[in-house]
Amino acid sequence: MLYTKIYTAKNPEAAAKIAADQFEAAIKQKPACVIGLATGSSPLPLYRELIAREQRGEIDFSRVRSANLDEYKGLPADHPQSYRFFMQENLFDHISIRPENTIVPDGLASDVEAMCMAYERKIEDWGGVDIQLLGIGHDGHIGFNEPCDHFPLWTHEAALTEMTRNANKRFFDSLDEVPTAAFTMGIGTVMAARRIVMIITGADKAEILYRAFFGPVTPEIPASVLQLHPDVTLVCDEAAFSLAAQKTV
Ligand code: GLP
Repeated sequence: MLYTKIYTAKNPEAAAKIAADQFEAAIKQKPACVIGLATGSSPLPLYRELIAREQRGEIDFSRVRSANLDEYKGLPADHPQSYRFFMQENLFDHISIRPENTIVPDGLASDVEAMCMAYERKIEDWGGVDIQLLGIGHDGHIGFNEPCDHFPLWTHEAALTEMTRNANKRFFDSLDEVPTAAFTMGIGTVMAARRIVMIITGADKAEILYRAFFGPVTPEIPASVLQLHPDVTLVCDEAAFSLAAQKTV
């Protein structure tokens, strides 16, 4: 673990406040900054905190641009389980960000390669991601970059592992309804962000936190690549940090 800054908070709500401070600072420094966003349950307390801060007049999202990490293949934007829908419900509909300044990969893209290239180009045209939010899967995936024998570079179509489909089936009526593929930023896209904030909360993430940040860098644990990024802030709660705390004393 070369450069990672680690904050350990009492609980997910306290962790969210620490992460929100990072986003607030980035937006104050550059009002039209580009933020990379994530889905899953880990970012939810952060999104609630950011909404509250804008309502109190502490942040202004009106010039911010955002690019999401990933989207399920085959789900339209208005599908309740799509990540576009998730972002509208949990963040975008409650802040002043302009709809045209939010991008999420198109789950219905027919020309996948063209959509993925256009996604990369849009981020590049915006000047690159200033601050990227990440969660982590139990197998160490980031976005939908699953464990494999190499680090996929750019936005691409990814097959979902059974572990990920099972972890995400809680949002669907049954496992059969969980898509088997997704579109995701690549590891190269993520690593090109100037700053990265990863949120890890809950005892069920203690083992993967330890392996990702205190073990070898390997595409078998995609998040371990973050050890090589010069500006990563890991914000976790005590439960998620428990194994690392035991092993690193
Ligand atoms: C999904 C998302 C990831 C997210 C992961 C963990 O697979 N594609 O971006 O990090 O879930 O989600 P949670 O925070 O709910 O554990």
